[in-house]
Amino acid sequence: MKDSLESLRGEIAARVGRFSNEQEIDQLRVEYLGRKGKLTLMLRSLKEVPVKERPKIGNQLNRLRSYLEEQIETGLKELRVREKERLLREERIDISLPGSRLERGSIHPITLMMDEIIDVFLGMGFEIARGPDIEDDYHNFEALNIPKDHPARDMQDTFFVTDGRLLRTHTSPVQIRVMETRQPPLQIIAPGAVYRHDDDSTHSPIFHQVEGFMVDHHITFRDLKGVLTHFLHQIFQKEIKVRFRPSFFPFTEPSAEVDIECLLCSGKGSPSAQQSCRVCKGSGWLEILGSGMIDPSVFQFVGYSPEKFSGFAFGMGVERIAMLKFRIEDIRLFFQNDIRFLRQFR
Ligand code: PHE
Repeated sequence: MKDSLESLRGEIAARVGRFSNEQEIDQLRVEYLGRKGKLTLMLRSLKEVPVKERPKIGNQLNRLRSYLEEQIETGLKELRVREKERLLREERIDISLPGSRLERGSIHPITLMMDEIIDVFLGMGFEIARGPDIEDDYHNFEALNIPKDHPARDMQDTFFVTDGRLLRTHTSPVQIRVMETRQPPLQIIAPGAVYRHDDDSTHSPIFHQVEGFMVDHHITFRDLKGVLTHFLHQIFQKEIKVRFRPSFFPFTEPSAEVDIECLLCSGKGSPSAQQSCRVCKGSGWLEILGSGMIDPSVFQFVGYSPEKFSGFAFGMGVERIAMLKFRIEDIRLFFQNDIRFLRQFR
């Protein structure tokens, strides 16, 4: 017994120390401390040792067991520390490498402009209404006092769809749709896409308008002037000069074209004696929207009494305002989706 204890001690001393992995440790544990482990068997056969020597050998065996357990414990700890160090070493991030850039999108300038316009009107208590892009002849023309054969239909080159339907040429049909279903007081804006058979640097087959109208008892031309002047001052962020010029629309009477002083030459018309302003062609004014008092015949189409109610309406081109505000010279840029153009509006 004494001899085998000696050799076991030697064996164990040779096996402990630096372990290269956890399996090695597990194996050692099973081999010596497992149910049939060498040390376990020896402890179990202690009862065969003469009583006199038993305490001494028992004591030595127990110390050998504690020693082995301690070695296993520290061996495991060391292994874990070494593993962590290895990971830290091998997985180190090189923070000097260039990163990969995440491309950020931007809001389309027409959406930006539209939101800005809408905001000003919401601030004045207007609410938003929408109508279909595919309209019928009645809402786009007839009820707006543009009968068949009316020369005003030539002003707008219409895209016709099947079954007498068409792509709306303006947002004015939304006036009709709202008035057909609701009673005054009304204070509405109707933003959206419109379509005309037209294509050059200032005309696009699809563009956007914001329509607006107000109907109640005693609405006058002064209300129209007040609302639109306030709107234009807000949108161009200063108290630019505004002019209401007599004009004609079948659905308003009287009608007025609204001009603002030229943003480039500040209304002077010609920056020098030889040359007239490129933007306003020397007139000093820029045409910005159409407006007028809603024609009594339109009220009759929607069943309102022109005796009881009056109202004004206006319509503006969003692209035109964006072009003037951002100094963009070709309307087609808005629809080509060239990223170099679009990212300037970030
Ligand atoms: N619908 C007209 C256009 O597209 C604009 C307008 C709207 C004029 C409302 C007067 C009143 O040109």
